[in-house]
Amino acid sequence: MCGIVGYIGEKDATPIVLNGLKKLEYRGYDSAGLAVLENGHIEVRRDAGKLERLAALVQESPLHGQVGIGHTRWATHGEPNAGNAHPHLGMTGDVVIVHNGIVENYLELKEELKEKGAVFTSETDTEVIVHLIERSLMTGKTLEEAIRCALLRLRGAHGIVVLSKDEPDKIIAARIGNAGGVVIGMGDGEMYIASDLPAILEHTRKMVFLESRQMAVVTRAGARISTLEGEPIPYEVQTISWDPVSAEKGEYRHFMRKEIHEQVRSLTDTIAGRVDFDHGRINLPKLNLTPALAQRIERIYIIACGTAAYAGMVGKVLIERIARVPVEVDIGSEFRYRDPIINENTAVLAISQSGETADTLAAMEEAREKGAVLWAIVNAIGSQAMRLADGFISMQVGPEIGVASTKAYTAPLVDLYMLAIHLAEQRGEINEWERKGLVSDLRLVPDLAGRCLDREGEVEIVAQALVEARSALYLGRGVNMPTAYEGALKLKEISYIHAEGYPAGEMKHGPIALIDGDIPVVVIAPQDPWYEKMFSQIEQAKARGGQVIAVATEGDKRISAAADHVLWVPETPWMLSPVTTVIPLQMLAYHIAALRGLDIDQPRNLAKSVTVE
Ligand code: M6R
Repeated sequence: MCGIVGYIGEKDATPIVLNGLKKLEYRGYDSAGLAVLENGHIEVRRDAGKLERLAALVQESPLHGQVGIGHTRWATHGEPNAGNAHPHLGMTGDVVIVHNGIVENYLELKEELKEKGAVFTSETDTEVIVHLIERSLMTGKTLEEAIRCALLRLRGAHGIVVLSKDEPDKIIAARIGNAGGVVIGMGDGEMYIASDLPAILEHTRKMVFLESRQMAVVTRAGARISTLEGEPIPYEVQTISWDPVSAEKGEYRHFMRKEIHEQVRSLTDTIAGRVDFDHGRINLPKLNLTPALAQRIERIYIIACGTAAYAGMVGKVLIERIARVPVEVDIGSEFRYRDPIINENTAVLAISQSGETADTLAAMEEAREKGAVLWAIVNAIGSQAMRLADGFISMQVGPEIGVASTKAYTAPLVDLYMLAIHLAEQRGEINEWERKGLVSDLRLVPDLAGRCLDREGEVEIVAQALVEARSALYLGRGVNMPTAYEGALKLKEISYIHAEGYPAGEMKHGPIALIDGDIPVVVIAPQDPWYEKMFSQIEQAKARGGQVIAVATEGDKRISAAADHVLWVPETPWMLSPVTTVIPLQMLAYHIAALRGLDIDQPRNLAKSVTVE
């Protein structure tokens, strides 16, 4: 959840590290710090709060050097204060570390180290790592050997970066398990290290991704990678095509709004190159789906967390309807512990924007052990989910920085639609005429999304009416039931208004008791096969004095007469309607939070990549 940046070269490391941290602040933002090698010793600045506090501290008390590491924190052990912020120095002040992950056995290690005389200055688990390294150095080991020894004693998943004053021409980085990525950026006479690409994309596109249990010794001239046990490993340098500008806010006040508006482009890119409109075919080469495999699959589990899981719920409806394969959707944190029934005829499809979500990755590993075919729909290039999978679909949305996921929700909806058609064709479940019809509908998607965005002004007016709400209900059914979940999640995570998404048919089994004049009821009621049922939901809510906000198809006079407010969406083929119905709900949440003056891109207690359990 934390962000890490490192630099070694000829330039001043401080602005490079600070700038990189700025790009990663979305990952964790309760405290931040940096360490620089200055005239043969390590200088550290760190503080609680957002990065601007650290930047101010650095301005008051500058530090300069050509080697530096930095960190933005999302607290797990110890409150977010300056003392717990990274980097953490050892007792000698000669070694410094930044860390992403949780040392699961830190209490026993801490006790052991204390007995040997270590004095701890923070409440973090991270500090044990630097003490372990220091103890090994005292026995005459090199920095590299000392780090290996320390890491071999840790339980849990970790990304670490270490700097020592005694070996000033190197930074050492390592990764164990799935506590987020470690990427090495290859420059010319200079090298970069980061937990995520956006931190260093402006400097280089040439990247090497560390796998679990690998360590990189990074010097100005390049990197040497080995296993934790010391076995050298040849590596592949990947060239990243992401545009560094897309990781900037540009004219927008918030990344979230920028990313909402990027959906026309991201949906175009999602389809581009994958759809043969002439022959009505879908082309997903990286999925490695052969007809033999398609026919073998008896069941699909979609595993994901949060917004990605809601996309998966839409996928269930689409895959079952189009490809006629039974699909279950499981939350990553549940799947991994419930001994799911899986065999080699089961496909497990993980969906993840970051590709680094610990629960999703653990679920993938569980599926792998049980022999399932492993697929992923992932955004972050080179991420662990992408690498673990037997086949993947890359989201093509570019970096998503806003903590509230938007464009990385709509893209997988289209990916899942394409997957369903592709699977159906390979299994012989669909005739050419049906397939061509479904494929042809894809060409409408970017324009339909654009027409939703054109109505932002109307959404803003509805937001003004809801800004004081304390609670809201979101109701949907069928393919738009997950839209209700996702709309409610967007509202709660950025506006801090309690919101619940519910399958509309369940209302009468309990939640209808909540409806009174004070609770807005958002009813997702486009012209789809569930329309009549949703319309009666509006009537039921109105009959109990509820304030109804309907998401409805343009021109629907029945709904405009019945609802208090309408968020209009263009007529959309029903299987693709979750793409359009969610867009006004993203904008609604955004504008309510903006009217409440909240920190939309960095909502409290959240982080963009959830790399801890
Ligand atoms: O990176 P992932 O897609 O695996 O992340 C999953 C969830 O943590 C994420 O979707 C989260 O729910 C978002 N904050 C929702 O806006």
